[in-house]
Amino acid sequence: MRLHGRDALVTGGSSGIGAAIATALTGAGARVTILGRDAAGLDAVARRGGAEPVVADLTTDAGLATAAAAAAEADLVVNAAGRGWAGDLGAMPPDELAALVTLDLVVPMQLARAAVPGMRRRGSGHLAFVSSIATVGVGGEAAYSASKAGLRAFAAALRHDVAGDRIGVTTVFPGAVDTPFFDRRGRRYDRRFPRMVPPDAVARRVLRAVERDRAEVFVPAWLSLAARVQGVAPAVFHRMAGRFG
Ligand SMILES: NC(=O)c1ccc[n+]([C@@H]2O[C@H](COP(=O)([O-])OP(=O)(O)OC[C@H]3O[C@@H](n4cnc5c(N)ncnc54)[C@H](OP(=O)(O)O)[C@@H]3O)[C@@H](O)[C@H]2O)c1
Repeated sequence: MRLHGRDALVTGGSSGIGAAIATALTGAGARVTILGRDAAGLDAVARRGGAEPVVADLTTDAGLATAAAAAAEADLVVNAAGRGWAGDLGAMPPDELAALVTLDLVVPMQLARAAVPGMRRRGSGHLAFVSSIATVGVGGEAAYSASKAGLRAFAAALRHDVAGDRIGVTTVFPGAVDTPFFDRRGRRYDRRFPRMVPPDAVARRVLRAVERDRAEVFVPAWLSLAARVQGVAPAVFHRMAGRFG
């Protein structure tokens, strides 16, 4: 997809990866709507690149309806809004678990559902999903890992369904990215690797993947090896993850 002149919706555009993607998209000549709850954060990103801010909470019916209406008109929908949670599953409050699965998995599915008919009608479109390397199953992040793995399967299936409609689907698997994500989830990033990458590095890869219709993108690229090892030899991967963290 050529990005110049296209209408893009970026959820999570007020911060971190979504903000970097939105800024890169406006730089590439796209008309960008950024969506989040934090009006000040949205305004700051809008001032940087000229995106249109929309305040909405995606875990509410009204917020989801606002986002779905924007998705229905968009040529490109980037699902970057998300939240994490780390700790023992038994200590995770039930409402926190429900909100995490809603935001990280159900909302992107709902927005894809809203976006596809318009893209089919117009004969082009692209859906991008920000998943995570946590799809391999990260200890202490069971609900988050499951949601992001579900998103990967959803995107892979959807790619089949829209293959004949000139609609592209990309799933992005970042490792650790230097954003407020870890502060917000209440646990710092304390692993030795993968090293943190800046959100701009993810944004560059996402734009290239959309332009070239890549199905899956790992950032940094070498992380695809971890996913492949986990897929082919899950017991070996489990032992290595237990040993090296
Ligand atoms: N940082 C990492 O290491 C990392 C690694 C792999 C994957 N990811 C994924 O990357 C995506 C972006 O995360 P990030 O690192 O950029 O974190 P971030 O800076 O905390 O950004 C999260 C974004 O989600 C939005 N959001 C959260 N709850 C929302 C709600 N209820 N309604 C609407 N928007 C909501 C936030 O906007 P408001 O605050 O304005 O609502 C914010 O723009 C997430 O899906 C995350 O799972 C992150």
